[in-house]
Amino acid sequence: MGVSIGFVPTMGALHQGHISLLETAKKNCSLVVCSIFVNPTQFNDKADFDNYPVTIESDIDKLERAGCDVLFLPTVTEMYPQGETVNGKYNLGYLETVLEGKYRPGHFQGVCQVVHRLLNIIPANNLYLGQKDYQQCMVIKKMMQLTKINTNVIICPTLREDDGLAMSSRNMRLNETERKKSAAIFEALSFIKKNIVPGDINPLKKQVFLRLAENGFKPDYVEIASADNLSIIDEWDGKIKLVALIAAFNGKVRLIDNLLLQ
Ligand code: PAF
Repeated sequence: MGVSIGFVPTMGALHQGHISLLETAKKNCSLVVCSIFVNPTQFNDKADFDNYPVTIESDIDKLERAGCDVLFLPTVTEMYPQGETVNGKYNLGYLETVLEGKYRPGHFQGVCQVVHRLLNIIPANNLYLGQKDYQQCMVIKKMMQLTKINTNVIICPTLREDDGLAMSSRNMRLNETERKKSAAIFEALSFIKKNIVPGDINPLKKQVFLRLAENGFKPDYVEIASADNLSIIDEWDGKIKLVALIAAFNGKVRLIDNLLLQ
């Protein structure tokens, strides 16, 4: 039997969500590779890039304890020997025009560029991604179709803190007050799940958006979309599978989360 490689790409500042991806990879593959690379080309906001948490010593410690076999820790020049300018364009179509694509122009081109390069370096059988970045998972699958990369994409459940906050490296940047407030995002998604009924679902989206704004968030969007293709749903037939998605600023930190509604 040959070696099977499970690959977990990350930008570091590792938390239990990343470790759960590694643990799943370890169950399914004989060799587990993790990359840590804060990819400059996927940040549309320079301040977000400059403030992205870097905790390399504790990351290495966590990876060792989780039994990761290989850590790939490239420099920017190693990943982009010809410079960071995005060459060529992945035709992501509709996926790049909505939600994160709309609010973070260029972000998904940068994500595709780096994951494409990483997969050219690491011949992974399986790629492990977290459901928290729901649209990113779809985009990466699309990039792999376009580039004919033959790696299985395994999407693993979002891990949450006790109060429901989705685990994310950016949570480290929340101050104590902001951290306490952050559970409101998962509560908002759960409210949608509990209250959605067939028919016009725009009033529900609006209600949740306003409630977040009243609680001091600056929401970019509160949306309900087809879980299969992310087309935005305004009128629900009660049948198609839905996902609710939220992006909102809590102070200076932009948080995203989603919840499948069925
Ligand atoms: O989700 C992330 O951490 C990043 O977008 C990824 C997939 C590692 C690419 O830089």
